[in-house]
Amino acid sequence: MEHSPAGKPNFDWVAPFYDFLAFLVFGHRLRRAQVIFLKQIPANAQILILGGGTGWLLQQVLTHCQPNRVVYLEASANMLALASKRVINHNVAGSVVFRVGDETCLKPEESFDVIITPFVLDLFTEEYLQAALIPQLQTVLNPDGLWFVTDFVNPRIGWQKLLLWTMIRFFRLTAGIETAELADWQRLLAESGLQRNQQEVQVSGMVSTEVWRL
Ligand SMILES: C[S@@+](CC[C@H](N)C(=O)[O-])C[C@H]1O[C@@H](n2cnc3c(N)ncnc32)[C@H](O)[C@@H]1O
Repeated sequence: MEHSPAGKPNFDWVAPFYDFLAFLVFGHRLRRAQVIFLKQIPANAQILILGGGTGWLLQQVLTHCQPNRVVYLEASANMLALASKRVINHNVAGSVVFRVGDETCLKPEESFDVIITPFVLDLFTEEYLQAALIPQLQTVLNPDGLWFVTDFVNPRIGWQKLLLWTMIRFFRLTAGIETAELADWQRLLAESGLQRNQQEVQVSGMVSTEVWRL
């Protein structure tokens, strides 16, 4: 189980069984939450999917959204390999740039009409989101672009708190995530000057799917 040197998450070890684990705990509900607002992606969009995992969402985007180009930026080489294999196996057409790395691997000349971060913001501390991840993604979002976030939100019910606590411990152990608690990413996005256009709460209130814009 290798962790990234700079304390950044490394999902390589978890990659082969990540989808199975997610299904075991949540059934198809995490997947359903990710596609709620996908139909709002305009045709011909430049799309960044950051932390898409094994590529199920990429397949949905290529099948239903007619993008101009998708940059699939994944920190885990194993996740990325599974995603590219999935696109080939399912014979899904589209222009996709598969890139191993994180937000620091975005090129200065790149800009996107749509950014998608599915279950990624929950991996980081508030300090990192505020100082690094959110501003870096903001700079590559077009002025009229949309940022689709699907993620866990702080639950109020006891069993949900326990489940979230267990998940965070599990990923601290297996993927080396640094955070010990769920960041209030909604507040941080709002404080960064973004505005929430839409929201739908899922999974008995544990997950929120949202569309933000500058
Ligand atoms: C919790 S998993 C979610 C995977 C997928 N979105 C899903 O819902 O099935 C988080 C994913 O984000 C990737 N990741 C974590 N930090 C990242 C970063 N800074 N840039 C790109 N990918 C990242 C991990 O490698 C992992 O595949």
